[in-house]
Amino acid sequence: MQTYIPFNKPSLIGNEIKYIRDAVRLGQLAGDGGYTKKCQETINRLAGSHKSLITHSCTAALEMAAILCDLGPGDEVIMPSFTFVSTANAVVLRGATPVFADIDCKTLNIDPDEVRKCVTPRTKAIFAVHYAGFPADMDRLREIATEHDLLLVEDAAQALGSTYKGRPAGSLGDMAAFSFHETKNIISGEGGALTINREDLFERAEIIREKGTNRSKFFRGQVDKYTWVDIGSSYLPGELIAAYLYAQLEMETAIRTRRISVFDAYMEAFEPCAKSGQVTLPQVPPYCTGNGHMFYLLMKDVKVRTDFIQDMKSRGIITPFHYVPLHSAPAGQRYGRTPGKMSVTDRISKTLVRLPMYFDLGSDTETVISTTLDILGAN
Ligand SMILES: Cc1ncc(COP(=O)(O)O)c(C=O)c1O
Repeated sequence: MQTYIPFNKPSLIGNEIKYIRDAVRLGQLAGDGGYTKKCQETINRLAGSHKSLITHSCTAALEMAAILCDLGPGDEVIMPSFTFVSTANAVVLRGATPVFADIDCKTLNIDPDEVRKCVTPRTKAIFAVHYAGFPADMDRLREIATEHDLLLVEDAAQALGSTYKGRPAGSLGDMAAFSFHETKNIISGEGGALTINREDLFERAEIIREKGTNRSKFFRGQVDKYTWVDIGSSYLPGELIAAYLYAQLEMETAIRTRRISVFDAYMEAFEPCAKSGQVTLPQVPPYCTGNGHMFYLLMKDVKVRTDFIQDMKSRGIITPFHYVPLHSAPAGQRYGRTPGKMSVTDRISKTLVRLPMYFDLGSDTETVISTTLDILGAN
């Protein structure tokens, strides 16, 4: 039989269907019911956050964060260009300007030295992405944020379960946005969460998620009717999504452990190719633990990478590249500002390739490894 190993496969791990049936039986399909609360309590525990609100996507959580930062025309937000469009869109939707800073060539996360060079009197926040699930250097970013009175937001889309100096991703910034899209570790099809670590933002966050109303206060019996009090949108997922998500969150340790074992197997198998200079492996900073979200290789140049992707595909294994840098995208040029050189971003985006990584990869891990080694001529 012809091999086919996709890049990602959504998982059904434990109680997803049982909890969805239960949510139907309970009779509340709109959001903010029992499963939403259970998800939020679990996220608070996993992310070490004071308050979390689940959303229909990480994109929604980032948009909420941008509103909570009070961004408006003239304001600037420093972020990497090597990220998904949602990091920048959230800022642009408020009329503010994303300012793109280069990444560190070892971690592929935003480089604090480059961030420092991008600060102007108009800077209002830093949006740091935890690429491949490995947290950015948050202590150094916090130093800059404190010095210039900036908000610090984690785009932790890929990072649930990872740690930085012993502290969980999601507890490191003023706010953090997570994704539960089907390509992530913990999934609900589409899904996300915002964790909020500043008490002065808790109440407004609830209002923004509920279309700008104080509906959450009303349901807690704190006001006797609810009304429109602020800007907002419909960022709340329904209970069916929350039920699926809760079943996955319950299994977070098992999911993370399984994915880390694939990550470790890839690292060990490709070590000789790294030693011979054929590829570069992910470099895990000593102060971080990852969550096995992603495994990537850096190839010598764009041609080697294109040929590799093609060869893998011809043998039935899907190995995509990743972000097209936002500073070079049409909307990035229209809405963003790029004060410095983006040489690391440009090089990484041309040479990075991702290998299959999902909960049920199982013995196909060996097929990916042997085929990769074969194509690299290292078998
Ligand atoms: C860094 C980053 N931020 C934001 C997102 C958006 O997540 P979602 O699809 O849940 O909106 C992604 C999605 O892959 C991402 O990688």
